[in-house]
This record gives sequence, C-alpha cells and structure tokens, in this order.
Amino acid sequence: MEVKTKSLLDNMIGVGDMVLLEPLSEDSFIENLRKRFDHNEIYTYIGSVVISMNPYKSMLIYSPEKVEEYRNRNFYELSPHIYALADEAYRSLRDQDKDQCILITGESGAGKTEASKLVMSYVAAVCGKGQEVNKVKEQLLQSNPVLEAFGNAKTVRNDNSSRFGKYMDIEFDFKGDPLGGVISNYLLEKSRVVKQPRGERNFHIFYQLLSGASDDTLKKLKLDRDFSKYNYLSLDSAVVNGLDDATSFRTVRNAMQIVGFMEDEVQSVLELVAAVLKLGNIEFKPESRCNGTDESRVKDKNDLKEMCELLGIEQSVLERAFSYRTVEAKLEKVSTTLNVAQAYYARDALAKNLYSRLFSWIVTRINESIKAQAKTRHKVMGVLDIYGFEIFDDNSFEQFIINYCNEKLQQIFIELTLREEQEEYIREDIEWTNIEYFNNAIICDLIENHQNGILAMLDEECLRPGTVTDETFLDKLNTVCAQHQHFESRLSKNSKFLTDHSLPHSCFRIQHYAGKVLYRVEGFVDKNNDLLYRDLSQAMYKANHSLIKHLFPEGNPAKVNLKRPPTAGFQFKASVGTLMRNLQTKNPNYIRCIKPNDKKAPHIFTESLVCHQVRYLGLMENVRVRRAGYAFRQAYEPCLERYKMLCKRTWPHWRGPAREGVEMLMADLQVPAEEFSYGRSKIFIRNPRTLFFLEERRRQCLQDLATLIQKIYRGWKCRTHFLLLKKSQIVVAAWYRRYAQEKKYQKIKRATTVVQSYTRGWQARKLLRELKHQKRCKEAVTTIAAYWHGTQARMELRRLKQEVLNKHAVTVIWAYWQGTKARRELRQLKEAARNKHAVSVIWAGWQGTKARRELRRLKEEARRKNAVAVIWAYWKGLKVRREYRKFFRANAGKKIYNFTIQRIMQKYFLGLKSTLPSMSPIDKNWPVRPYIFLDGVHTELRRIFHLWRCKKYRSRFTEDKKAVYEEKLEASELFKDKKALYPSSVSQPFKGDYLEISKNPKYQKLNSSVDEKVLLADVVNKINRANGKGATRILLLTKKNVVLADQKTGQVKASVALPDLTSVSVSTQNDGFFALRLKEGSASAVKGDFLLSSEHLIETITKLHHIGSAASDGEQLNVDIADEFLVQFKQDKVCVKFIQGAPKNGNGASCKRKNNRLLEVSVPASA
Ligand SMILES: Nc1ncnc2c1ncn2[C@@H]1O[C@H](COP(=O)(O)OP(=O)(O)OP(=O)(O)O)[C@@H](O)[C@H]1O
Ligand SMILES: [Mg+2]
Repeated sequence: MEVKTKSLLDNMIGVGDMVLLEPLSEDSFIENLRKRFDHNEIYTYIGSVVISMNPYKSMLIYSPEKVEEYRNRNFYELSPHIYALADEAYRSLRDQDKDQCILITGESGAGKTEASKLVMSYVAAVCGKGQEVNKVKEQLLQSNPVLEAFGNAKTVRNDNSSRFGKYMDIEFDFKGDPLGGVISNYLLEKSRVVKQPRGERNFHIFYQLLSGASDDTLKKLKLDRDFSKYNYLSLDSAVVNGLDDATSFRTVRNAMQIVGFMEDEVQSVLELVAAVLKLGNIEFKPESRCNGTDESRVKDKNDLKEMCELLGIEQSVLERAFSYRTVEAKLEKVSTTLNVAQAYYARDALAKNLYSRLFSWIVTRINESIKAQAKTRHKVMGVLDIYGFEIFDDNSFEQFIINYCNEKLQQIFIELTLREEQEEYIREDIEWTNIEYFNNAIICDLIENHQNGILAMLDEECLRPGTVTDETFLDKLNTVCAQHQHFESRLSKNSKFLTDHSLPHSCFRIQHYAGKVLYRVEGFVDKNNDLLYRDLSQAMYKANHSLIKHLFPEGNPAKVNLKRPPTAGFQFKASVGTLMRNLQTKNPNYIRCIKPNDKKAPHIFTESLVCHQVRYLGLMENVRVRRAGYAFRQAYEPCLERYKMLCKRTWPHWRGPAREGVEMLMADLQVPAEEFSYGRSKIFIRNPRTLFFLEERRRQCLQDLATLIQKIYRGWKCRTHFLLLKKSQIVVAAWYRRYAQEKKYQKIKRATTVVQSYTRGWQARKLLRELKHQKRCKEAVTTIAAYWHGTQARMELRRLKQEVLNKHAVTVIWAYWQGTKARRELRQLKEAARNKHAVSVIWAGWQGTKARRELRRLKEEARRKNAVAVIWAYWKGLKVRREYRKFFRANAGKKIYNFTIQRIMQKYFLGLKSTLPSMSPIDKNWPVRPYIFLDGVHTELRRIFHLWRCKKYRSRFTEDKKAVYEEKLEASELFKDKKALYPSSVSQPFKGDYLEISKNPKYQKLNSSVDEKVLLADVVNKINRANGKGATRILLLTKKNVVLADQKTGQVKASVALPDLTSVSVSTQNDGFFALRLKEGSASAVKGDFLLSSEHLIETITKLHHIGSAASDGEQLNVDIADEFLVQFKQDKVCVKFIQGAPKNGNGASCKRKNNRLLEVSVPASA
C-alpha cells in the first residue's frame, strides 16, 4: 500500500497534521505550531481543517509554481498549504457537483482577508481560461481592493482590518469555469466615519483620496491634501507603515474601472467621499432664542456651501435641517429646534448614513458587474471573510455585533465538525467514545434569543415609548440576563459581581467562546436605532445629484413612511441567520487563522496569545474528535460507484446491495479491517492513507480502463479501417480484373477476327478461284454450245429460208387464185343483194301506204267517237241542267262563280305567302303564276312586293349610309354606261377622307388652314401642263373650295372657290384623269385649268357635282364625258386626247405632251 505522502510525512517539521501528533496535549500542540512557525511553516492541518498562522511577512509560497504544484493533487499529498484546501474545494465542486463554502475564522488581524484572497487567486489560477472567463476572474479579484478601500481601516489590531463582513459566492459552470459572483456585505462599522479610537484610522479611502488624487481632482472635489484640515480624520496614525495610500488610490481607481464603474460613477463616489469630509468640518454655534432656549446655527458656512455645491443641494435646505427637526405623526407636523449637540448628532448621523449607504451601493454596483450572465444551473463556492473576533479596551455596539457574528461562526464549526461528527457515528452505529467540547450555543442564545436575548432587549428598549437611554437598557439586561452564566454586570442580581471592580457600572460583560469582553452600553440604543432625521433625508433626496438621491429614497416626500425602520441589531441578526442557513447547505472547508503576536511583527510567537486562540477555537477538541473518529466517510452507493472498478466482482455491475458490494471490494483489496468500519449507510475510513490508497488504485485503474478503452477503440478503428481497405481492395481488384479481362478479351477478339478474316479471305479466294474456273468452264461450254448451235441454227435457217422461199411462191399463187375467186363471188353476191333491195323498197312503200291509209281511218273513227262523247256529255249536261234548273235561283251561278273565284284567290294568296322569295332587293325569283287569269295580278303583286322590300331595305339605312347611296346613285346617273371606269367604282365605298386629315398630326396645320369641313381628302396627281408628268398633291374638297396642297409639307398650293368651276371633263375610258375647268376671268383661272388624275375619280367628281347641285345658287357643275376635250393652259387651249394603249400591268394611263396643242393620254385597254 504505497501512498504518496512524501511531503506531508518526510522531512516534516513537527507534524503537518495535528491528528498525527503524539502525545497529544495542549503543550505539544502549541509546541508543534511554534516549531513549524519558526520554520516558516505557517499552515498545519487538523484532518481537513487548515490552521493558518499569520507570518506578518511576505512568504515565497504563493508563486505560480506552487499553484501548479498543488494543482489536482490530493489534500494530504503535499505539505500543508492553503492551496491544498482551495484545490480540494474546487475539485469537489467541479467533479462531484457539490457546492462549497470556505469558512475563514480567527480574530482580527489573524489573516482571514489575506487567506480569502489567496483562495480566490488560487481558484482563479487553476480554473478555465479564455477571454470571457479571464474577464470574470479579473472582475472578481479586482472587487477586493475596491471593497477594502471603502470597508477596511487601520485598527490597533490590524492595519488593514475589515470593518464589514463579506461573503462572496463565486459561481461556476459545469466545466468549473467562473461565471460571476454575488457579494453580500454585513454591517459596516460606520461609527468609524465620525470617530476613531486612539491609534486607529478612518476608512482607507479618505486617506487614499487625499494622498493619491491629482491636484485637479482635489480642486474639483473642493478638497485639500492636508489631513489635518478634516475633523473626521484622526491624525495620530494618519500614516501607516507599509501602506502607500497614494499608490493604493491608483490601484483602487484602476480596480473600479476593471470592475465596470463608469467614469461618472467613480466621480460621484468620490464626490460623496469628499462630501463626508466636508460634512465633518461643519460646526455649529448656539443662538439664543426669545423663549430662552438655544438654537444651533452653522458657524462657518464655507464648508456647508462647498458640500452643498458638491452634492447639488440647496444650502438653505440643509442649513435648516441642521437647525430644525420636523416630527410627523399621522396628520400632524411639528417642527422643533435643534440645539448645538443635537445638530452635531444630526451631522454625524448624516455622515455615517451617507458613507454606509455609499458602501452598500458600491457592493450592489459591483454585484451588477460580476453577476453571472448565463441562466444555466451553476455550482457555487462561497468564501466568507468576516470581521474577526475583537476585544478592545473600549468595546461598543459594533464589537458586540462583530463578536456575535463570530460566535455564530464558531457555532456552525462546532455543529458541523464536532457535534455533527459525533452524532453521525452514533447514528451510523459506529463504536464511539464521546469527547467533551465546549458548545457556544448557550452564548448565541444569550444574544439572539427572541424573548430574552440581548438583541431582543435592545430592540424592545428602542421601541418602547417613554424615556429610553442606554442606562435603562442596561437595567433591563440586569434584570433579564442576570442569571445567565455568560452574562456579567455589576448591577445584576448576581451578587458575585457586586464587588468586581473590573466591571464598571455602565458596562456589561459577556463570556464569549473566545474570551470575556466588556461592553460599554453608551451608544447602544442610538446605534441600534440608527436614526436619521427626516429633514436630513429629505434634504438629501432633493439633491441635484443622481447618486445621493438614489441613496436616500425615504426622503421622497411622496413616499412618507411613518413606520419605524428595522433596527440595526434586528437587521444584522436576520442577515446572519440567512448566512448561516446558506452555509449549512454547502460543504464546509475551514481555515482557522491564528495570530502569533499582538505586535503585527514577524517571527514573534506569543505562546499565551496562541494558546488562548487554540483554546477558544476548540482546536484540541477538533484533533481529538478527528483522532478518535474516521478521516473519511461515504455512503455505500457512491462509494461503490466510485471504486467498483477496483474489483473484478463489482466491475462493471454489482447486482446485490451496495453495502455487500463495498464489503466485497474491501475484502478484495485486502484493506486491513482496522482501517475502516461499516456504518448503517456509510463506510467510515479511518486513515486518510487508506483513502489515498483507494484513490491511487482508482486512478491507476482508470488509466488501465482508459488504456483498455483506447486499446479496444484503436483495435476497432484499425479493424474497421482494415475491413474497409479490404473491401475497397476487393472492389478495386474486381474492377481491375474485369478491366484486364476485358482488355485481354478485346485483344483475343481482335486477333481472332484477324485470323478469321485471313482464313475467310483465303477460303473465299479459293472458292472464288473455283467459281471463276467453273464459270470459265461454263462459259467455254456455252460458247462452244453457242457456236455449235449457231452453226446448227444457221444451217437450219438456210434450210428453212429455202423452204420458205419455196412455200411463199406457192402461197402467192394460191392467194392470187383465191382473190380472183373471191372477187368473182363478190360480184355475184352484190348483184343478188341489189335485186333483193329493190324488192324491199317496193315492199316498204306498199306497207307505208297501207299504214297511212289505216291511220287515217283510225283517226276518223276516233274523231267520230269523241264527237259522240261530247254530244253525249252536252246532252247529258243539258239534261241535268234541265232537270235541276228548278232547284237553282236565278243568280246562283254568279255566286258559285264568285265563290269559286274567292276560293281560288284565297288559295293563291295563301300559297303566295308561303312561297314568297327572300327580302333581298336583288333576288329575281318569283313564284310561277297558277292561273292565266291571274297574270296581271301576279305581275302587279311582284312589283309591289319588290317595292315594299326595297323600302324595307332602305328603311334600315342610317343617314350617312343614305348619303353614301345617294352619292352612289348620283354617280350612277353621271357615269353609268358613260365611263368605263364606273363599274369598278360601284363596289368601292365612298370614304371621303382618305388621309384621315383631322386625326393625322401631319396634316394638322393643313386641316386648320381650311375653315370648312373637309368632305374629301385624297392624294391626286397634278399633270404638269408643260410636259404632262404628274406631281402628287393633296386634294381637299369642302363645301366651298377645292384645295390643292403639297403632300409633304401640307402647304396650300391652290384653292379654287367652287363657283369658279364651270365644268369637269373626263374621258369615257378606264382612267382617272379629269380636268377642272375654270370660269374665265375668275381669280383662280390665272394659271389655267387643272388637269388631275385620281384613283377615286368617280367619287371625287360625284362629290364635286353633288356640292355644286346642293349649293344655294343652284348652278350645276357640268360633267363632260368625252375622249377629247379642250383645256385652257394659261393663254393656250390644249386638246387632251385619250387613246387606247396596249394593256399594261401596274398603274394606268400615262400622259404625254405631244405638241403645243395636244396632250395625249394613253389608257391601257382593260384586260
Ligand atoms: N499569509 C500571509 N502572508 C503574509 N502576511 C500576512 C498573511 N496573512 C496575513 N498577513 C498580514 O496580516 C495582516 C492582517 O491580515 P488580515 O487583514 O487578513 O486580517 P483579518 O483576519 O482579515 O483581520 P480583520 O478581522 O481585522 O479583518 C495583513 O495585512 C498582512 O500584513
Ligand atoms: Mg479582514
């Protein structure tokens, strides 16, 4: 069982762990401490508790190398060190998920604050790293100098004494990286702000500010660097050896910046500090009033003024608050004057409140900065550094509170280490001999008991109506607590103190766990009340300074609260209660600080002082319990879970009860029986070495397991890799083989094909040769045969020819003979036929005559028969008429006739109705007339019907259409059968405005130059009078004018008033030429007549004619139609002659000037 305890046991100075001390006595204990202290071994263990001796000198045991040395090492592995405890706590937090608290106790100056900083710096060094984490660490660490500057002061016991209690929760994530923290502060000793005991200083910040701030800053704060100028700063120890206030000020400012204070926040804080100093300088003088009382007045208003300027307070308001006090009771407000003493009291109360609230605000502000951002569950390590137990010559309310707090901490130590430990052995049924120790619960009860505890009495006295003084409070204590064995007072009913001169009348004494402390009651009631006159808090609230306004919320007149605020004692008791409850939920780690001497000097070991501390800290009892008991215990389940890998039977799973599993484990590991005991639910391990042994084995085993897992994993990985490679190789090989085989096959195939082709070629050639031979043989045979047959044939031919020649001669002769014979026979037959025909003709003539004679006879017979029938019918009719005449009236015949006629007409009309032709005017159909006598009617009806349907047809016409038809009609009258062009115009609608002149922007100008409505707008050709060539013009026709304009520019070339036109001449042919003949002597006739050509000639002329006939003067425009007419060109009369030309494709007639008198227009004959 080799355990690494080299440093703890080997080369040990004294013993590192008091548990190992032999023999154990108080002397040997102190001696061991001294020995170690003398050899600079300031840390010693009692089991897991660290005893720390204050060396009062800097030690080289906190270097980064030391941090590395202690990192991740077992607690007992190395020589005792505070780092070992910090490491143990941090690892339990990180690895076992247990919240930790580090409780640092000891009297003032024992080194608690230093120890807490060492713990924090160690944890900061070993926990995770990273930009964010480092920032959090830095902020957590830098909160210390800030809080120390404002909360620490030099006391007679300690140059850097914490004057407040501090508990800091550092929060970590599951990896052990710090996330942030929360600081709780406990009751600042604020009385120090206004008064410091001899040899002590005010809070460091005042001295640091005055020493370290720049001149500029001081000027802004209206401060002077000279300490002596400030009443609140004691002068006798303003400068402390080893403390550099100026450097500390820079450190504090820097730390504030790191923690996250804004520049304006720092400024506000300093302004408040300055204001407190100024406040201390305000002095009062009495001023007599007419009622004989004195009223306080501010003596020199300069400091008051400066303070008000700093805080933005109206001077008069504060001044009044120092002279008057307003008491509000329900609806009443009573104002009383303050005398000088009361004014000083008010001033100091304000200073104390101002400073303590500022301190609390700083803590809150730091908390804001360092609070964990992540909302995830986190683990917590609490570090408690509270003011140490203190005994001064003159102890007041503050010491009472501080010592009460230390009592509570001692209590929790006893609870958890001594009582709880012993009780656990009994609970777990472990053999145990009880060890006596002093339980300070009784002292705690004396102070905090709800009914008769000192704090309850004090509260009762404070809240009691009537005159309340410190003396009445002491009286009350004397009656209530007299019998308590830890309470001593001269006037108590306990007679034994009556003669005790060490006990003054105004004091009471408590026998604390750490010694007797004499408390002077003076100020107890006041300090517990902690009252600040409302006028002052209201004056502060009115300040034009955001921070100060924030610090005095009760000064808000809108929120006047008449309820008394809780007393200082009550608040402290409550917060200590909460702290204790909080600590009890965490795993405690103890650092017991011991002060070696009262001189704050190194190397001095005052035995009596150390002995006293060892006694009251209960360290001897601690060692005894530890020695009698067991170093380590753990419930069976987690123990089995942790060490099960050390035994093959319990690894990896133990199926039975956990205890049996642990037993199996211990047996298997052959741990000696005296080294452990089995409790009901836990195993108790006596010696830390056994635990180390288990841990070491576990570590080795974990290494082996890790190696095994690694081995299996690597094997698996390699195998998987190999299998993959193998599979890949098979795939690759298969592919390659296939490829190679394919290649080979291709090669063989090509070779085979070559061989095959050679063979086939050879065979084919052989066959070809044979076939050719055969063919040649066949051909030879054929040729021979042919020659032979030819010879044979020619011979036969010759024979046959001869034969034919012979035969032909016979045939010719025979044919001649036959012909002669036939002709002779034919002649004979013809003769016979001629004879036969003559007979037939004679026979037919005879037969015809016979037939005609018979026909005449038959006709005669038929006529006769008919005549007989007619006569018979007449006779019959006559007979009937004669017979029926008597039945008819005279005019019946007429009626029958009329009726018959009516019926016929009715039938005719009804028939006509159903057989009427279509409504088209051009439909020529008409039903056939049924009776001749209706001939006239039928024709008349046809005419009427035609007229009616024409009328119907016309009635559908619109006015425009009607006008068009009228024009068409007029055109017909003018040109039908007169001009060859006319028929082609019939089907063309008369559009009029071909150029869309009103819409086309191009002709806008032209359109506007013509006043009248344009009836026709068309492009025409104007024939040049000189050469007969054409030029395009726009022809516009209005009711009054004919206008010719340039086609491109739209410029009017000529405008002829219609009355100036005499006639229009056109040809009879298929051309579009027309001449506008002008009245001689008219204005338009200067240049002569116009010869124009238009594609819409018929329409143009018709329109011209129509306008002429519609004009009011009624003078008709003549339209001359002739193939030759005369036109007046300037002076000359020229004949325009139309001749028929060859038919042409494309456009029509061409015009040519033949000579001076003749202009010839050649019109192509229509195809
Ligand atoms: N480990 C240490 N190494 C060097 N000096 C130390 C050490 N511990 C304490 N000191 C010295 O002792 C002084 C007092 O220590 P510290 O302020 O920690 O006491 P404390 O227990 O917090 O007292 P208080 O209860 O008054 O706050 C320190 O200012 C420092 O000079
Ligand atoms: Mg301290």
